[in-house]
Amino acid sequence: MASVQVTSVRFEHHDEPLGIGEPSPRLSWRVTTAEPGWLQAGYEVRALDDAGAVAWTSGRIDSGESHLVPWPGPPLGSRARLAVQVRAWGAATEPTPWSDPHAVEAGLLAPGDWTAEVVAPGWDEEPEGPVPAFRREFQIERSVRRARLYATAHGVYELWLNGVRVGDHVLAPGWTSYHHRLRYQTYDVTGALRAGGNALGALVAEGWYRGRLGFGGGRRDIWGDRTGLLVQLEVEYEDGSVAVVATDGSWRSAPSATTLASLYDGETHDARRAHAGWAEPGFDDTAWAAVLSQPLDATRLVAPDGPPVRRTELVEPVAILRTPSGKTIVDFGQNLVGRLRIRPRGPAGTEVVLRHAEVLEDGELGVRPLRLVKAEDRYILGGTGDVEEWEPSFTFHGFRYAEVSGWPGELSPADLTAVVCHSDMRRTGWFSCSEPLLERLHDNVVWAMRGNFLDVPTDCPQRDERLGWTGDLQVFAPTASFLYDCAGVLTSWLRDVRAEQLASPTQTPPLVVPDVLGWAFPAAAWSDVVTIAPWVLYERYGDLELLRRQYDSMVAWVDRVAELAGPDLIWDRHFQFGDWLDPTAPPEAAADTRTDGALVATAYFARSARIVSTVADLLGEEEDAKRYGRLADDVRAAFAREYVTPSGRVASDSQTAYALALRFDLLPDPARRERAGDRLAELVHTRDYHIGTGFVGTPLIADALVDAGQTQVAYRLLLERTCPSFLYPVTMGATTVWERWDSMLPDGSINPGEMTSFNHYALGAIADWLHRTVAGLAPAAPGYRRLAVRPRPGGGLTHARAVHETPYGTAAAGWSTLDGELLVSVTVPPNTTAVVELPDGSAPVEVGSGDHEFRIAYEPARYPPPRPPHTVWPKPGAEGE
Ligand code: BGC
Repeated sequence: MASVQVTSVRFEHHDEPLGIGEPSPRLSWRVTTAEPGWLQAGYEVRALDDAGAVAWTSGRIDSGESHLVPWPGPPLGSRARLAVQVRAWGAATEPTPWSDPHAVEAGLLAPGDWTAEVVAPGWDEEPEGPVPAFRREFQIERSVRRARLYATAHGVYELWLNGVRVGDHVLAPGWTSYHHRLRYQTYDVTGALRAGGNALGALVAEGWYRGRLGFGGGRRDIWGDRTGLLVQLEVEYEDGSVAVVATDGSWRSAPSATTLASLYDGETHDARRAHAGWAEPGFDDTAWAAVLSQPLDATRLVAPDGPPVRRTELVEPVAILRTPSGKTIVDFGQNLVGRLRIRPRGPAGTEVVLRHAEVLEDGELGVRPLRLVKAEDRYILGGTGDVEEWEPSFTFHGFRYAEVSGWPGELSPADLTAVVCHSDMRRTGWFSCSEPLLERLHDNVVWAMRGNFLDVPTDCPQRDERLGWTGDLQVFAPTASFLYDCAGVLTSWLRDVRAEQLASPTQTPPLVVPDVLGWAFPAAAWSDVVTIAPWVLYERYGDLELLRRQYDSMVAWVDRVAELAGPDLIWDRHFQFGDWLDPTAPPEAAADTRTDGALVATAYFARSARIVSTVADLLGEEEDAKRYGRLADDVRAAFAREYVTPSGRVASDSQTAYALALRFDLLPDPARRERAGDRLAELVHTRDYHIGTGFVGTPLIADALVDAGQTQVAYRLLLERTCPSFLYPVTMGATTVWERWDSMLPDGSINPGEMTSFNHYALGAIADWLHRTVAGLAPAAPGYRRLAVRPRPGGGLTHARAVHETPYGTAAAGWSTLDGELLVSVTVPPNTTAVVELPDGSAPVEVGSGDHEFRIAYEPARYPPPRPPHTVWPKPGAEGE
């Protein structure tokens, strides 16, 4: 094997580049080598056609870039297929060997490529009526070279070819702002066709398209009131001729055995009604109804940007409990998102009922937090005499516990499994340390992300929301992009954010995207997702094109805020969510927090204006760069005038107010920054290390303390265990991040608030700090082209480590304490460098790729940190002065 190799060639952000939508996909690759300090000097790309002949080559390109480089060949046409190889030059004159060939295939790139029609079932569909089945038979006459199936739906679909499931996607085509963009999927079905008769079958449930969405009863039929199927099967024969089997008037439809399928309420399947063999050739469908053609705007059809939702893990029961009222509850030991797979055996007509919940209360299923959601699946046995394995297809639940009733015979743990479903992203980030509670907190954040990246980034997975709340993603984006490669999922979602925003008369993004609430009032930290999320993705994935694509949306938002704030630049005339759900917000008033919402809004105004200025600069928009730079300066000055005292106190005098002022650089001079940092630490001491922040302050507070030289105070805050704190939920047995610091109260009862989820990622935003500062692994240049390794040990921890799959390869940073010494270890991927700043104050050192170790004399800082006397409640008998 060569000592330097090019591997992992990728196209845009696709892990599965079949049916992609970009005619000129940007390319990325990695270089694997043990050679230290390896840097790329040039590369060459070549493309092979189906026969393995070279179709084109780029020739050597002198460039160090190996991530998202421009496509160097002619654009791909619809259905075009190539295999791409890359080789690279380092300092040596000889290139690496060519990489393995990596296949890429374009999807249907032009609306005119679609000949299929959308078909709806041939009866009047009722809300929550039976899921329609569709079918059609066709002949294959010659030998097949390749076959592709392009599919989407108004609703959510599953497909079969000759009785075999096509693909392994869950809830395809996923959820987009369907008025603007409807995704289709591409499947390779070459191997599934047979000579002679073949059959295609599909089920289409209401899904997001026409199912009930939103709280307070929600809305139905948001994008349409008919389910519909769009399928185009293209068969290319060995002789070069092509046959197309597409949805049209020749398809047949019938109600399926799935008599109800609702995302919120669950699914009912009556196995007695099954049409045996319906998706196979030779089935008699004369009793089935003709289908109805539906209008379709093919310009809305788009290929995916990221991975589909899949089943990603199976979880077995840990216990079967009998509740005080005599019910049977299965505990899976982990709050997760997905559904159950059950294996009953019994007489026909036996009805098994499965109810889901995240927690128990008084030993019974705690369903109150689900609000208007039934989360109930029902399976009616066909009575075949065999085990009947069943899993719902068109619903999902957030649950750790499932109540099972109607089970034929004695329920045993082997009878059911929980199936975890979410966007099938690549895991890219890990964290470990010497404190088990902190590791569990980190696991909880990972599970919260898994539960809430179900095609769109959502607030929660269990109650009558599960919506793409902008604020939640805004605060969680840095953590998300470390833990998983979510570039594809968020690229797609941000396209919708932009589309919905720019279509609104006021250029305000809706508060949830896709917009199902019709709520588009401007709200700081929520609407600021339009500037902040693209910026975070740029920092983490180095995707400049994404900034270019989102730029008009970023600018439109900042212009809008400027209008709302008016000439004094203080945005104080509108309702704000503000520091949503800080621990002092009463159960029924989440926005009633310690920190003034207008202060939050003005701080975010400054931040977003600054981001737009920086982005304008990157994009070569010089005028804009100056204009928004001036605006950011002016808002900063306005903030100081309005909210900062001459000595450096900040109005609201809350943890979040200081964290914002410090982290968004809103304090006018070093003296006031120092005073604000001290005051923040003082507030943390005063509150006995209880967290005082909500959605806005939580991602900022630990960084603000470290910047202020109060690292051990940050650790003390992080490691507090009593309510409210980061570790309190962990001590209560949490396995996900909660929406509220006290979603479960210390006495084990559920917070009485209407809004109490046990799976909300926003407050998990602290994990980004664990990665960047506790372990010390952060990007110093977009896409981790340069690493910032700056570990700050403390809190009595004896070791910590973070690992991240960067676009260039595996990076790691960690440390452990030895007797009087600190050992820092760093892994730097090829073609990158790292700047290492050790905690002893020594000058930063720059290192190249490879493994590095640093050993320094180290005396752990005093922990817990000394407490200023005035922050301690006086002891009885203490004298007043
Ligand atoms: C959601 C939040 C969201 C908030 C804003 C809640 O119901 O679950 O996480 O950001 O509403 O109003």
